Amino acid sequence: MDNRPIGVFDSGLGGLSVWRSLREALPCESLLYLGDGKNCPYGSRSADEIRRFSVEAVRCLLDNGCKLIVVACNTATAVAVKYLREMYADIQFVGLEPAVKPACLTTRSGVVGVLATARSLEGELFLRTSSLYADKVKILKAVGEGFVEAVENNAEDSHETETLVRRVLEPMLDAGADRIVLGCTHYPFLRTLMERIIGSRDVEVLDSGAAVARRTALLLEQSGLCADEGHTAEYVFMTFADEDYRRRLEGKAFAKEKTEL
Ligand code: DGL
Repeated sequence: MDNRPIGVFDSGLGGLSVWRSLREALPCESLLYLGDGKNCPYGSRSADEIRRFSVEAVRCLLDNGCKLIVVACNTATAVAVKYLREMYADIQFVGLEPAVKPACLTTRSGVVGVLATARSLEGELFLRTSSLYADKVKILKAVGEGFVEAVENNAEDSHETETLVRRVLEPMLDAGADRIVLGCTHYPFLRTLMERIIGSRDVEVLDSGAAVARRTALLLEQSGLCADEGHTAEYVFMTFADEDYRRRLEGKAFAKEKTEL
């Protein structure tokens, strides 16, 4: 048994969508969340920069006693998880992969839309997974321009954000997509808005939160790292930005209403 926290990191607030899934699935596990905040967004940065930020984040989480790391960022996973696994060979990492596989296996229209950052869409993982289904499913991909900034600014409900989301979502819906994959951990905070745009169409929006929580649970069990049953979980939030941002992380983690997933 091991009551040390699970470390969770993202460029900013987005990984809290994964944090929520972890908290729900693993109520006895303490979670230490690091939302970089200072270098966000990662999505359009160079691979070298993203790797450097990821190493800094992992170092900070390990210095603070974490037993396993969830890379709650598709972009950091696409660019840096291989490198992190080599660098910290004795630490278990759980990465984020867009839910392309479940979307392709369940689509009825044969058209799937994938929304992610530029770096994630170029990533080896995404290209490999999508090529597996390329002969049967048409995969439409688009960068959610401005989505990360909208979530970082708590502007999920604004008209400007709605315009941004319509701009990428509507062409996918018009092309017949019946599965929309959220390949960036910030995007689940825009799910309510997306579902409003989708309206009565028979379209499912998929994120990776629950699958990541299941994978984390399995790894904890296999490695003998589970917390005691009945352990009271503690939730701590850290950032490379300032105290105000740290408080925003905490607030958004527990917030209901408009940002509820
Ligand atoms: N939330 C992250 C992701 O899943 C990063 C977004 C960003 O910082 O650009 O890709």
